[in-house]
Amino acid sequence: MIDMVGAVLNRASDYHRRTGRPFVTLTYAQSLDGSIAAQRGERLHLSSEQSTRFTHQLRALHDAILVGVGTIVVDDPRLTVRLASGNSPQVVVVDSRLRVPRSAAIFRNPRLPWIATTDAADPERLSELVQSGVQTLRLPATENGWVDLAALLNRLGQAGITSLMVEGGSRIITSFLVGGLVDQVVITIAPLLVGGLRAVDSLIPANGAGPTRLRNVVVEPCGDDLLLRGDLEPNRE
Ligand SMILES: NC(=O)c1ccc[n+]([C@@H]2O[C@H](COP(=O)([O-])OP(=O)(O)OC[C@H]3O[C@@H](n4cnc5c(N)ncnc54)[C@H](OP(=O)(O)O)[C@@H]3O)[C@@H](O)[C@H]2O)c1
Repeated sequence: MIDMVGAVLNRASDYHRRTGRPFVTLTYAQSLDGSIAAQRGERLHLSSEQSTRFTHQLRALHDAILVGVGTIVVDDPRLTVRLASGNSPQVVVVDSRLRVPRSAAIFRNPRLPWIATTDAADPERLSELVQSGVQTLRLPATENGWVDLAALLNRLGQAGITSLMVEGGSRIITSFLVGGLVDQVVITIAPLLVGGLRAVDSLIPANGAGPTRLRNVVVEPCGDDLLLRGDLEPNRE
């Protein structure tokens, strides 16, 4: 599976040249019933050791890795490559109001994270982060005050990011899918029934079209888990 994803990502530079944006891989671990946590605000280990190693290999194939601030607050991940060889990607956190805790593990990584925010961010908090060397990306806001993700992809493309791995959580996954901003999906499916927080909140197409189907799907066992990858047709203007 990793070789196939690697082959797909070999085309990321061409894609970036053509579109000005990074190639986007959406990835997360879910239970059989589509849960990524027992409930919002709680952490749940779903992946086996083997599939966690696969996720680290996947990280090493990307220039950058993105999560929502909700995931930083709850899981406090490092988002580095430790269980595989290769470089750790640039961490990007989507955080409209700069509520990322200064004690978060990502601030202890050798490479400081980039924080994508909006004009609603507290100016004091902003200058505190800038002074500590953290790069902040000020972006337009959506109607509900969140970071405009299409604008963020353009900004990341300008910064030379050719491939981006989006690792969750639920709100970020949903926004990327609703925005039609995903090129490839790679999901770990663990043999668990949780009945908890859904990976995707709601995905009802405004145009009345039916469910979104992945193309070129490949499924592979990974210990007791299953890995599934497929392509999505991004809906980029
Ligand atoms: N199983 C897995 O693979 C996996 C992976 C990651 C996370 N998780 C789980 O997911 C849960 C966290 O998910 P979550 O939905 O609460 O948080 P999230 O998706 O990590 O972050 C969402 C937050 O990001 C900010 N944001 C800014 N712009 C946004 C945009 N355009 N779209 C969406 N969000 C935007 C918002 O906070 P502001 O309004 O403050 O900016 C929003 O509440 C945790 O329980 C965690 O354990 C599971």
